[in-house]
Amino acid sequence: MTTATRIIGTPTERIDGPAKVAGTAPYAYEHDVDRPAFLYPITATIARGTVAAMDTTAATELDGVLKVLTPWNSRGLTKDAEGEYVVLQGPDVAFRGQLIGAVVAQTPETARHAASLVRVEYNEMPHDTEFRVDHPDEFAPESVNGGYPTTSDQGDVEAALSQARRNDDAVVDEWYSTPEEHNNPMEPHTVVAHWDPDQPLLTLHDSTQSSHSVAETVAKVLGLDRTQIRVVAPHVGGGFGSKGAPHAHDILAAMAALAVPGRSIKFAVTRQQMFVFVGHRSPTSSHIRIAADGDGRITALWHDAYSRSSTVKEFAEQSAVSSRSMYSAPNRRTSHHISALDVPAPFWMRAPGEAPGMFAGEVAMDELAYATEIDPVELRMRNEPGVDPESGKPWSSRRLVDCLRTGARQFGWVADDRSPAQRREGQWLVGTGVASATYPHMVIPGSQVTIRFDAGRYRVAIGAADIGTGAWTTLTLIAADALECRIEQVTMEIGDSTLPMATVAGGSSGTSSWGAAIVTAAHRFREEHGHDPDDGAETTSAATRNEELKRFVHASFGAHFAEVRVDADTGEIRIPRMLGVFSIGRVINPLTLRSQLIGGMTFGISMALHEESVRDPRFGHVVTQDLASYHVPVHADIVDVDATWLDDADERATPMGSRGAGEIGIVGSAAAVVNAIYHATGARIRDLPATADKVLPYLP
Ligand code: MOS
Repeated sequence: MTTATRIIGTPTERIDGPAKVAGTAPYAYEHDVDRPAFLYPITATIARGTVAAMDTTAATELDGVLKVLTPWNSRGLTKDAEGEYVVLQGPDVAFRGQLIGAVVAQTPETARHAASLVRVEYNEMPHDTEFRVDHPDEFAPESVNGGYPTTSDQGDVEAALSQARRNDDAVVDEWYSTPEEHNNPMEPHTVVAHWDPDQPLLTLHDSTQSSHSVAETVAKVLGLDRTQIRVVAPHVGGGFGSKGAPHAHDILAAMAALAVPGRSIKFAVTRQQMFVFVGHRSPTSSHIRIAADGDGRITALWHDAYSRSSTVKEFAEQSAVSSRSMYSAPNRRTSHHISALDVPAPFWMRAPGEAPGMFAGEVAMDELAYATEIDPVELRMRNEPGVDPESGKPWSSRRLVDCLRTGARQFGWVADDRSPAQRREGQWLVGTGVASATYPHMVIPGSQVTIRFDAGRYRVAIGAADIGTGAWTTLTLIAADALECRIEQVTMEIGDSTLPMATVAGGSSGTSSWGAAIVTAAHRFREEHGHDPDDGAETTSAATRNEELKRFVHASFGAHFAEVRVDADTGEIRIPRMLGVFSIGRVINPLTLRSQLIGGMTFGISMALHEESVRDPRFGHVVTQDLASYHVPVHADIVDVDATWLDDADERATPMGSRGAGEIGIVGSAAAVVNAIYHATGARIRDLPATADKVLPYLP
């Protein structure tokens, strides 16, 4: 397998780069379609109740309007239409902004104007959108996102905590919270739907992380045969989880296409609608209790995680799951609690669970470091488990200590300078912070690959998605490596549900899952057709089953180091530099990997300092519904963010020796920033985002 001329690991510029720079790479909205028509949605202006009446007369009579869809004139959906996919099936309103109708017109302007002419009357009922940990209807979900059990218990955490308090051991007992946040990829969600009744075929040009799961779900919900739908998505401008499954707007566009056959119905979700239609990260609250003995060994670790779900669909952010495996602790309890309120369904947002959960856990570890008077890098090393504490299984590879050590050296970590609010340079209070990161290595079975040889080139086909990650390029490298041919001889075909089955670009599982199938198919191709194949030689295969995934626990690890400067007068917080060191197995394309990691770290800075969806409990909607009031960092906010990685190979994880790397960059990064703020100022922020007003009371 390992040859001196391995193609995996070659720094390779994106093969789709020139097309993107030239503007010729079509995103969902830009595909050249025949006879476009434009959809504008009608949305509920109450947070709970029913639609009593809709007067569509003025809209219908407007010149250029082709169709006005309402709950009373729309096609019935199947029993598989559940949760947010129940679109226009009745008068019920479960959250403010819910889709209750649509106008299809000759121009986008006409559609939008006509939608504004529709008069809606409601029977309004009282609503509740306010997340709180003591909600009377709070309950423990049966399982949490990712399929993990809702609770987990080892030893006797209560007894161990009491004992620690009696011994006067270091005990941290605090609450940590993260606000509601919204996925905002550069390209908002878009779908272009076309129904050809003669074939029959429904074609969706959709901005998605999985054309196959969109095809599967939309077909089921509409009662179409799976062969009657095609989903095309060659280029996607970011996803971060929200495009990991279709949402109600996809169903609405498909319904409109079926109602207006022959036209290509274009539905571009606006930036403001992104704060309603496509999922979000629930606000979270974590109650963490940790105790450690005089040597800094954790004796008890208790993490209760709270988040908000919806009445339309249950979603439980798995925020306590990372606390099950991160550190050694003989006595441990983790639990999850949710309440179903009158809000849109929460969904995946980059590293659901780990991102808010590790913020809480890694700030708590920093507090424990101060309580035990042990350097925070050293404290983490002292609590390194030999095997996975949750399952008792061995790690395939756990190099957290190497990440911490390498990072401390490269960053210039000073262990004997941890007193808070000591360093000042002119107007700036200066501090440094550290946090660990972990993300599970996921491989989803089911992907298929077809390799066909023709005229000196290998066509490698799999319905995978490149959402900006570099998958076009990474998969080309994997194929060339496994086929032992030149990169230029591989033509990748991805982004279409008519290509062989591919699982979602989500859970950092894409490259691992698709790559494993490519390697198996390539090896089988060589077995069947040799190294000098005839034109037309073709092989289709799924990945060989990898038993090692069950025998070992596989996860990626990392360590973040941040320097923070806080203006002594205004509390303005700047991050002049940040370093992440990661263990993610063998690197396939260092160029796109680095982008993934620093992108994730930037996401973490954003989570630490900027992002917050403010939901008005009186009306139930998010008021910060644009990028002027929902803050994300701009170039001036991101200075020297760097990511490096260990020389690594995890041959048990995938046939490439790689592990998932898409999400680990965000995990723990917000905690490193907040821990640095404490070191700089003495302000312990437990409630994100860390805005200037929260540090002001601590300034000299
Ligand atoms: Mo990612 S949030 O798993 O698509």
